[in-house]
Amino acid sequence: MGLFTKKPLHLLLNEASDAEKGMKRTLSAGSLVALGIGAIIGAGLFVRTAAAAAQNAGPSVTLGFIIAAIGCALAGLCYAELSSSIPISGSAYTYTYATMGELLAWIIGWDLILEYAVGAATVGIAWSEYLNNLLVEVLHWKPIAYEWCHSPFEHSVADAAGVIHTGIINLPALGIVTALSLLLIKGTQESAFVNGLIVITKVSIVILIIILGWGFINSSNHAPYIPEPSIYTDHQGINHNYGGILGILGAAGVVFFAFIGFDAVSTAAQETKNPKTAMPIGILGSLAVCTVLYILFAHVLTGLAPVEFFRTDGREASVVAAINKFMPGYHWLGKLVTVAILAGFSSVILVMLLGQSRVFYSMSKDGLLPTSLSTLHPKFQTPYKANLIILILVGAFAAFVPGDIVGDMTSIGTLFAFILVCAAVIILRKTNPELPRQFKTPLVPIVPILGIIVCAAMIYGLGWTNWLRLFGWLAVGFIFYFGYSKRNSKLKD
Ligand code: ALA
Repeated sequence: MGLFTKKPLHLLLNEASDAEKGMKRTLSAGSLVALGIGAIIGAGLFVRTAAAAAQNAGPSVTLGFIIAAIGCALAGLCYAELSSSIPISGSAYTYTYATMGELLAWIIGWDLILEYAVGAATVGIAWSEYLNNLLVEVLHWKPIAYEWCHSPFEHSVADAAGVIHTGIINLPALGIVTALSLLLIKGTQESAFVNGLIVITKVSIVILIIILGWGFINSSNHAPYIPEPSIYTDHQGINHNYGGILGILGAAGVVFFAFIGFDAVSTAAQETKNPKTAMPIGILGSLAVCTVLYILFAHVLTGLAPVEFFRTDGREASVVAAINKFMPGYHWLGKLVTVAILAGFSSVILVMLLGQSRVFYSMSKDGLLPTSLSTLHPKFQTPYKANLIILILVGAFAAFVPGDIVGDMTSIGTLFAFILVCAAVIILRKTNPELPRQFKTPLVPIVPILGIIVCAAMIYGLGWTNWLRLFGWLAVGFIFYFGYSKRNSKLKD
């Protein structure tokens, strides 16, 4: 047996019905939609939107959102078919193992670390920005010193007295991922309840900003809607295609981050009651709600402030910074948003950490990662050892890597995973046509092929620095695979 060994479907399905050894099934379709929205609305909207406007597309970031939404919807239709026919923890990793063999499954599992673990770190860093906002704007305390809430690789800044400050470690980001990892170890059911409350707050805040901000849109900020193509060099010295079609594609790749999470729903299949119907509802429902909100939100945000603002003063905690400066009389909204966002980001981090631990759980069950990662806690029935290892990984990224870099790494890693998921649908239809599918992706192979094309276009838009990071990450993964996983795989002879 070798690199292309496929995990037999009957084995996967047996594992799923093996309820005694498996995790508790506690989640319903409704809690899955909440879980999805909980994972979806977060730093992508409240931090990456402004970054994409500043670096890539100006007001036409809304068009980037539309492209990203199309890519997600196409991939989402593929996810829904796979998660309703293979309702098992592990998301794209599990689907790939059944359809394209062990090596590709490993690649995707490794790649999903970018999506979930590095994604959680990105949101942790955004959380840290808004925490400072809370301290200064809401509590009227001093901010945390720049050194203790920025990565050492982040640009240095000069204060009013001309003193240069350089980041050392992002302590708040590290703190929030630690707290949430411990919460997850305690159990998914409680976490899902807290998540439900946060989701309601988060959606209400987004709607409030859209409605109240609409009256402050300054049409001159929307002109020209699609800026002329040029090159923009950001504060870290990285060049970006700004304006034109390439700018829009780049923006799509960046704000794609805002949609990440709807697929995390599929990683909770093993804890879902009636997963065959609940999964498609969870995935597509949460995606639909968010798409509408995002386009309206981006239209308002880019109408409030000029692009220059998001490149300078409004770079951090961008949404609240724009409200405070360009919506006179609405300081209270800025405060409310700060508090809500801190809670909102926490729910995103929670779901990302949950998704990551479930992927590790599945990979460890298959022998591709050490078996201790699938040991369940005797009392809480959660894969607590996986959670602790993930905490170390996510904590390191959150503490030491700049937010823009981890954000784009998350986007590119997830786009790559989506491409493999689309391909898996086509392959599984050919290899296992008889498999009962509660939800069938329409117009196969057209929908998956279009999904592959749109996701590949966004990868293209993210630029060569990010392609290199993806290749580098995958190269490390290969070393691990050939050094450990291939020899320990449960499917080897
Ligand atoms: N979609 C999630 C966010 O925007 C990852 O924070």
